[in-house]
Amino acid sequence: MSTVRFATDHPYTVEIDNGALQKLPSLTGEATRVAVIYAEPLAEVALEVARLAGSATVSVLSIGVPEGEAAKTPEIATSCWRTLAAAGFTRSDLIIGVGGGATTDLAGFVAASWLRGVSYVSVPTTVLAMVDASVGGKTGIDLPEGKNLVGAFHEPDGVIADLDLLGTLPEREVRSGLAEVVKAGFVRDERIRELIAASPSGALDVTSARHAELIRRAVQFKADVVSLDLRESTSVGGRIGRELLNYGHTLGHAIEAWEHFRMRHGEAVALGMIFAAQLSRRVLGLPDEAVAVHRQLIGALGLPTSYQRAPFAELRELMGRDKKTRGQALRFVGLRNLSDPAMIVAPSEAILEECYAELGRDQ
Ligand SMILES: NC(=O)c1ccc[n+]([C@@H]2O[C@H](COP(=O)([O-])OP(=O)(O)OC[C@H]3O[C@@H](n4cnc5c(N)ncnc54)[C@H](O)[C@@H]3O)[C@@H](O)[C@H]2O)c1
Repeated sequence: MSTVRFATDHPYTVEIDNGALQKLPSLTGEATRVAVIYAEPLAEVALEVARLAGSATVSVLSIGVPEGEAAKTPEIATSCWRTLAAAGFTRSDLIIGVGGGATTDLAGFVAASWLRGVSYVSVPTTVLAMVDASVGGKTGIDLPEGKNLVGAFHEPDGVIADLDLLGTLPEREVRSGLAEVVKAGFVRDERIRELIAASPSGALDVTSARHAELIRRAVQFKADVVSLDLRESTSVGGRIGRELLNYGHTLGHAIEAWEHFRMRHGEAVALGMIFAAQLSRRVLGLPDEAVAVHRQLIGALGLPTSYQRAPFAELRELMGRDKKTRGQALRFVGLRNLSDPAMIVAPSEAILEECYAELGRDQ
């Protein structure tokens, strides 16, 4: 069993292991009622969660929601609130979210907003949710005007990353989640790069010890970053805080939005990281070999390494409109070398365009 601690204002642990779900009863605390908000295709997992959370003194309410982004709407959040209201859910009760990042974002937001905040436990069932969405305290829903526009910081009481739950995950989702893992490798953890390079197929095998080690290291990376900087998303002076998590995301978010979410988050971030490496080569002197490592590792995980579908002008416009950059100069997390990040602020438009053109040429 691996335990990663988040040393934030509201400290909590992430339990990462096969069968980690058995730890759930220890997290129900004083609650007399538990609501399990789960993605509907995961009804069987939700049943097991309800069984483990329930006891003679705890009654369980199960709330199924549509899978994926369709759950992150004001309408679904309202229906969850109304179900809680009808059940007389109180401030000392507990919400458990079960599913991918979309479901845990919604469930966390319902927990953050119900009676101004009730206890929350996350049971992520995708790689992306384990290493990113369900850890770090951000929750939220989408509006037709944009993704994640409504949300709150609400840290869980605990996160249970049961690796057995990944057994049914489609391979495309595994690859997409590993994009966030390899991101941690590029900006900090050399061992992640080694583990993927030595056996990309082992990295993709959710039953392997290598995969478990990658998940643990990526969660540890996020814990280290977030424990120093829970809320700040813009860096101060030469210090890069939580913004470090955005490596590859400036262009990645724009591609994801342009594709109207036909592309998985990790696929868009993979392209964004190759773009950020090329930009870093020009602006920060990142060595050519380090750019090559980006292409090798991202390609070995079966993630895209080249892209040209969207016109650059449209992506540039989307980058400027991103909620993190709105009204400010464009900011990119860059690298002086692997594991040596530095911010790139307001790079020249000509360089941005060159880097995008280069992204169209798979080398
Ligand atoms: N809060 C944060 O800090 C944060 C960070 C990154 C991403 N996110 C959010 O996370 C979401 C993306 O997360 P995701 O990639 O996990 O997507 P997702 O929740 O849409 O899940 C992807 C798909 O996998 C299915 N699935 C989930 N678990 C499964 C399992 N065990 N077996 C089989 N199928 C399973 C889901 O039903 C869905 O169809 C986005 O909404 C994004 O905004 C949030």
